[in-house]
Amino acid sequence: ALERVRLIVNGEARELELDPRQSLLDVLRETLDLTGTKKGCNQGACGACTILLNGRRVVSCLTLAAMHDGAEITTIEGLAKGEELHPLQAAFIQHEGLQCGYCTPGQIMSGVGCIAEGHAGSPEEIQFWMSGNICRCGAYPGIVAAIADAAERT
Ligand code: FES
Ligand code: FES
Repeated sequence: ALERVRLIVNGEARELELDPRQSLLDVLRETLDLTGTKKGCNQGACGACTILLNGRRVVSCLTLAAMHDGAEITTIEGLAKGEELHPLQAAFIQHEGLQCGYCTPGQIMSGVGCIAEGHAGSPEEIQFWMSGNICRCGAYPGIVAAIADAAERT
């Protein structure tokens, strides 16, 4: 049976009829067409699907959407304000924190969480608290520099 689930996604109230087995990742990508959130491993190991759930970073592939009725979700699509990039998005560009870009939405959402948690005080700390986000291109130096820079500015 389908379940009625209300979510606030990037500030917009959405009412959905969901299979209780659907991951939040699949709901975002397939039901809501928010394909900025990426599917890498689909098993919690790569971080590509990271989003903010009530302000905390989670891997959406391991999160069942139906268990979070009423939750506030922020995805990469929700960070910029109109034409104005979020400071961490701007910092990723400035510090070349990406190559192919596949891991980038997850890196940025996780980075926003990392900064909000107060875990971005030094490059070592950032590396530790961002270790759930894998980058196959090895763009780590730029990723760490971007988060350190944005943490100083926010
Ligand atoms: Fe969710 Fe890899 S797709 S952690
Ligand atoms: Fe290619 Fe990270 S930029 S996987």
